[in-house]
Amino acid sequence: MSAKTAKLQIDGIDKVIELPIYEGTTGPDVLDVRGLVSEGVFTYDPGFVSTASCESEITFIDGGKGVLLHRGYPIEQLAEKATFLETCFLLLNGELPTPEQKTAFENTIRYHTMVDEHIHQFFKGFPKNAHPMAMLVGVVGALSAFYHDDLDIDDPTHRKLAAHRLIAKMPTLAAMCYKHSVGQPFMYPQNSMGFAENFLHMMFGTPCEEPNVSPTLAKAMDTIFLLHADHEQNASTSTVRLAGSSGANPYACIASGIAALWGPSHGGANEAVLEMLYEIGDESNIEEYIAKAKDKNDPFRLMGFGHRVYKNFDPRATVMRKICDEVLEELGVEDDPLFRIARKLEKIALEDEYFISKKLYPNVDFYSGIILKAIGIPTSLFTVIFATGRTPGWIAHWDEMLSHPYKIGRPRQLYKGHTPRDI
Ligand code: SDX
Repeated sequence: MSAKTAKLQIDGIDKVIELPIYEGTTGPDVLDVRGLVSEGVFTYDPGFVSTASCESEITFIDGGKGVLLHRGYPIEQLAEKATFLETCFLLLNGELPTPEQKTAFENTIRYHTMVDEHIHQFFKGFPKNAHPMAMLVGVVGALSAFYHDDLDIDDPTHRKLAAHRLIAKMPTLAAMCYKHSVGQPFMYPQNSMGFAENFLHMMFGTPCEEPNVSPTLAKAMDTIFLLHADHEQNASTSTVRLAGSSGANPYACIASGIAALWGPSHGGANEAVLEMLYEIGDESNIEEYIAKAKDKNDPFRLMGFGHRVYKNFDPRATVMRKICDEVLEELGVEDDPLFRIARKLEKIALEDEYFISKKLYPNVDFYSGIILKAIGIPTSLFTVIFATGRTPGWIAHWDEMLSHPYKIGRPRQLYKGHTPRDI
């Protein structure tokens, strides 16, 4: 830790409080404020906008420069040169796999893709029109019921096994959510297939036909999972860490992350982007919606725009936009009206002073929904796709926290309620 300190003079406290300052390998320094509680004061940071909750080596974001690194590798290079499973290995282990490690990891994940047959019964209890995220949060939380023997969170081998099971089973469960909603039989994973190919097969295959997945769509799906793999201490990852800090089992922690991701301000935005584009309906209505987004009295926000950290472009959106072009061309729907509206909306917003001044750029969710729709994935399943991609990030942060000394998370408050009074 560095010898730098900050000196704090607080009215009413007749001494200078020295707070240690720590430097990261890159990014902002941090002020260690843990000593303040003994001086009788708390820090105050609703939404944790300027609070570092932990030390981490997994992902670094520079919001001003549009930089996203996973274990030091830029997201643009990973999207171009790595697969989703190689990125999962990188997030979990700190390095990209050697060819031998890659083969072994792929086989390990393949081995865990099937789910216990009893889980099929869970879906029978859901109404056909249940939201897929409601089903996913339920069945993932229930997974711990099937793995009592491997839940010693202080045992690294148990933690790694839980990580592999969760990464492997999310696509299977995601596809089961879809099949339940369309009344088709669940498809079993095929060990002869790659990760994304298997997912699309379980989604759109039926027992009546031979498997037939487009390699282009499988590659696009793999990159979409990769682009969602991790994103530092976002709302859902912080939820996973907080749940994990109480010693909850990994399946319960990931279920808590799924629940947090569901909100339209977070992972639910990709679904909200499509609903917004449907609502806009025609390019001629764009100006009206831009005005609504700028109107302080109108709760409407341009979904897929803005970010808590990126105050420049979201590098994932740049890659996603390129994939969007490729997939729509491959499918011969480059004139898709929603895509046209999205492109026009992006152009107008990026030239509008309001969005420029507030540094609102398209984020990862802006284009992902259009690609997923083009692939044939229903809008209600978009956040399930996001959760499937984000699982390695969630579980890598959970494992990183448990691999080092940690305390149960317990924020304090600025109390503005009644002082003691008698009934
Ligand atoms: C994800 O944290 C992560 O890393 C998340 C994520 C991940 O990978 O885990 O990147 C995934 O969640 C991406 C974000 C998806 N959400 C959306 O696309 C929903 C639309 N975006 C907004 O809800 C908003 O931009 C947030 C929630 C994303 C960010 O909110 P902030 O940083 O708290 O921004 P803010 O609310 O402080 O807004 C600053 C100003 C405000 O105006 P003023 O009060 O200063 O006048 O910008 C305005 C906001 O009203 N604003 C928008 C806007 N987003 C912010 N105005 C119109 N449309 C928008 N989308």
